[in-house]
Amino acid sequence: MKIIKARDYEDMSRKAANIISAQVILKPDSVLGLATGSSPVGIYRQLIDWYHKEDIDFARCRTVNLDEYVGLTPDNQQSYAYFMHQNFFDHINIPAENIHIPHGDNRDAEAECRWYNGVIRALGGIDLQLLGIGLNGHIGFNEPGAAFEKETHCVRLTQSTIDANARFFGPGETVPTHAYTMGIKSIMGARKILLIANGKAKADILYETVCGAITPAVPASVLQLHNDVTIVADQEALSKMPGELIR
Ligand code: F6R
Repeated sequence: MKIIKARDYEDMSRKAANIISAQVILKPDSVLGLATGSSPVGIYRQLIDWYHKEDIDFARCRTVNLDEYVGLTPDNQQSYAYFMHQNFFDHINIPAENIHIPHGDNRDAEAECRWYNGVIRALGGIDLQLLGIGLNGHIGFNEPGAAFEKETHCVRLTQSTIDANARFFGPGETVPTHAYTMGIKSIMGARKILLIANGKAKADILYETVCGAITPAVPASVLQLHNDVTIVADQEALSKMPGELIR
């Protein structure tokens, strides 16, 4: 694993955006695996800025997102589809038909997951997968205990995740209890992986991920088995990492 230290969130975002930008410049029809959450927002902002400066062109890029809540339509403000359009897609020149996100409003889980696995295969696999990491080591919605051999599947959210999400939903709105997520096998199939992390709260789990045992109890630890992983993290998130592992 290559570990790159950034000063702060802005620096992490710029460094990671540089890696994505290089990928798109070297292979304009790249398949980018994308993530939601707070970590990648700065990356998307930076890429939008470079797009406006005509430094990067997304016209031939294809994207696949990691996950989506079951039961939410793409126009629901809590959906990951909505997030991606607000924070990235609506501001760049990627054609709508090149964007792929699991359909949260498809209640037929088996059909939806089969379709999504087929999409990833038909695209020829993922060139670069962007990942955030949960405090418990989850990647995508693969929570501790997730089997390493799964592709896209439907997960039941843990009660703590449901409770944490409840604050984003108004009275009368149903908080999702399930999500579609790429599995660990789908993620590990990506040719390159870019994991980002910032803030003190991520320091312990980042250390576990890189230096701990490879175990489903820490889903991100499986990344030790991948041959092209780059971690870009700020100094707070790297505060527990042995210095000799950092570039
Ligand atoms: C997002 C995702 C999650 C997040 C993780 C970190 O699509 O799959 O695994 O990457 O929960 O979230 P943040 O970035 O909000 O700390």
